[in-house]
Amino acid sequence: MARITAGVGSSHVPLIGRAIDTGNTQDEYWKPLFDGYEFTKKWEEQEKPDVVILVYNDHASAFDLKMIPTFAIGTGERFKPADEGFGPRPVPDVIGAPDLAWHIAQSVIQQDFDLTIVNEMDVDHGLTVPLSLMFGQPEEWPCKVIPLAVNVVVYPVPNGKRCYNLGKAIRNAVESFDEDLNVQIWGTGGMSHQLQGPRAGLINKEWDLSFLNRLADKPEELTEIPHVEYIREAGSEGIELVMWLIMRGALTDKVKELHKHYHVPASNTAVGHIVLESQFD
Ligand code: DHB
Ligand code: FE
Repeated sequence: MARITAGVGSSHVPLIGRAIDTGNTQDEYWKPLFDGYEFTKKWEEQEKPDVVILVYNDHASAFDLKMIPTFAIGTGERFKPADEGFGPRPVPDVIGAPDLAWHIAQSVIQQDFDLTIVNEMDVDHGLTVPLSLMFGQPEEWPCKVIPLAVNVVVYPVPNGKRCYNLGKAIRNAVESFDEDLNVQIWGTGGMSHQLQGPRAGLINKEWDLSFLNRLADKPEELTEIPHVEYIREAGSEGIELVMWLIMRGALTDKVKELHKHYHVPASNTAVGHIVLESQFD
């Protein structure tokens, strides 16, 4: 049986990708941020996941106002890095896991969550920056990746509780897949940031730390946060944090927190990072 053994939460700021691609990770500005990912890079080398279900949001790269799926699963064999205006990032193509992705689609849709099935799409910084943070700069990514895109850009967006429950449905789906696979789930985006309007540049450290500190042991409390609180307290892009609740919902009820990191700022964003391990008895 396949199992979701661990979850990773991480911001996905595009400038982090740029710092990696241009070899600037040890600069005075960037070093403290990247130091916070050293634990995870070493841990991933030991864990060797077969598949990562990577929950992210597309930023008008694959989807735009023509089509706005709330939840979309990538069932394709391969996904290319998107051109977000400066050419595609110099990172490997993402290799999908179509058999498991179709199984998750089947199971999750039967558990009453509507997923849009996407066979072809390019993947933007929301997906590729976390891969670079956790795996560095390999020739090929060390595992298969199932993209799970969530609309947190155009209203209406899904609330945290629905995202958490989707995570639980994904766990059921993975555990009913016949192959022995070590599966991880990553939730990306956040923490507090606002890219536009009079409040651009907003950071709310206290609110972010309260979210980060409750994710392991009190996730149900976080599922009660209404979307207006994300916007008010964490800025218009802080709503990306609902994707971390999909990750948390997919893990066991009790988890072990292996690592946590918080850093301000990276570009316009407060960066949060957490590693949680499922506990099977
Ligand atoms: C920034 C952060 C994001 O999450 C994003 O998707 C785009 C930009 C930023 O801080 O610049
Ligand atoms: Fe984003």
